[in-house]
Order: sequence, then C-alpha cells, then structure tokens
Amino acid sequence: MGIARNDIARLAAEYRGKSPQEILKLALSNFDNIAISFSGAEDVVLVDMAAKIKGDFRVFSLDTGRLHAETYKLLEQVREKYGVAIEVMFPDPAAVERLVREKGLFSFYKDGHKECCGIRKVMPLRRKLATLDAWITGQRRDQSPGTRLAVEVIEDDRAFGAADRPLIKFNPLANWTSAQVWRYIRDNGVPYNALHERGFISIGCEPCTRPVLPNQHEREGRWWWEEETLKECGLHAGNLAAKN
Ligand code: ADX
Ligand code: SF4
Repeated sequence: MGIARNDIARLAAEYRGKSPQEILKLALSNFDNIAISFSGAEDVVLVDMAAKIKGDFRVFSLDTGRLHAETYKLLEQVREKYGVAIEVMFPDPAAVERLVREKGLFSFYKDGHKECCGIRKVMPLRRKLATLDAWITGQRRDQSPGTRLAVEVIEDDRAFGAADRPLIKFNPLANWTSAQVWRYIRDNGVPYNALHERGFISIGCEPCTRPVLPNQHEREGRWWWEEETLKECGLHAGNLAAKN
C-alpha cells in the first residue's frame, strides 16, 4: 500500500503516456486514504471513471460559500447518480466573518483574490489534506499556459505535504485536452455543470468566474481583472513553486 516518495519520479515517467483510467487505477489501488478533489466543473469525468473502477471511492469539495447555484445542483446530481457522499468542506466561520466585516463581500476586486481564496479555499483544503495520504485532481496542462504546463500525472505535493508526511497528488487528466474531456462527457452521459451551456469553460466562484468569447482562453474567464499568466488560487500552489 502507498507509494514511496523516491518512487514518484519513476512512476510519473512510466505513467506519463497512460490513460486517465490507468492512472486512476494506480491511485485507487495503492491508497485507501485517498479522495478526488471535485470542483463541480468538468472534472466530474474523474468521478465517473472512479465509479467504473471501484465502488467505494471518496470525493471532497470545497464550498467557498460563493459558488453558482448551478454548481450546487451538479454536486447534488453527482451525489445521487453515483451514490457517493461528497465530503463538503466549509471555511472557518470566524475567518470569513472577519474578512467580510473588515473588507466587505467583494474585497478581491480591489486587493486581489489571494486573501479571500486563502480563507475560503486554501485553509479548508489544508484541513482536508492533513487527513489524507493522497489526492486526485482534475488539473490539465492545457488549462493554464502560465502555470500548468509542467503538471505531472503523479506528483510529490510538497505544498501541502510535509517532510515527514508525504502527500501524493494524482492528476490523471494532466495530458488530456479539453476536447477529450468533453468527448468523454458526451460519450458516457456524464452530468455536467449547466453553466457550460452558457459559455463558461473554467468554473470557480460566482464573482470570480465569467464566460469567455469564442477562442478566448478558458483561464481568461477567471479573476480577469488580475495579471494574465499566473492565475492560481493556491489549491495548486506547487505549480507556482515549480516556476520559481
Ligand atoms: S483553481 O485552482 O483555478 O480553482 P481549477 O478550477 O482550474 O482550479 O480546477 C482544477 C482542479 O482543482 C479541479 O479539477 C479540482 O480537482 C480542484 N478544485 C478546484 N476547485 C475546487 C473546489 N472548489 N473543491 C474541490 N476541488 C477543487
Ligand atoms: Fe473568494 Fe473569488 Fe477566491 Fe472564491 S475565487 S474564494 S470568491 S476570491
């Protein structure tokens, strides 16, 4: 059980050309204490694939309190269709109350999204990951030219793991394109977020997500008032660390 830290690079190279299902199988057969990090957007394909591999897989989601109604509906649809209990993480109420009292509900438009994302996403993620040995995300290289081009299918997550407690991060869709994800969704009748029918591609929180125009990069629909290339909210802090 498990994967040793010094085996990660070898396995990442071995699995680089394999299918998402093969990578998921590796993840789910090596770890019991593992969960899919589900955002309520197109990464629902991971849930569908996991359901076909193994009956009892775990899914968690970070409810920032600012998600679209459509995203909540998808979470519920997924819970019912796959019979999986979605472990929803909420932010620390005292930290949200302080932020909103001091800076209002839309501070991110004025002083950037880092503080709000830190409270509403990263702290709850840290809390969840402290209880897991490994996690699975829907990150893809083609999602963000600025930060995700080097994403490996298996990574040593040093941003959320510790020197004496490795945390393995699996990105089974790393090498898939958006077109492949959508072909899978259609071929397999996978439920998807209704916002995709209205021009949204990458979906995060409601105030920080907008639809994009034809041929506009999907990342331009996220935190559009900020610098173009380095848009990460901290969930995948390792991507930024790797650039420095
Ligand atoms: S983000 O960091 O910019 O918000 P993005 O929306 O591209 O991430 O999603 C990439 C992956 O991060 C998703 O496939 C999912 O695994 C994880 N993720 C993003 N948002 C959430 C969330 N709210 N809850 C759980 N996982 C999430
Ligand atoms: Fe806050 Fe926007 Fe980050 Fe959501 S995406 S946590 S609303 S700054």
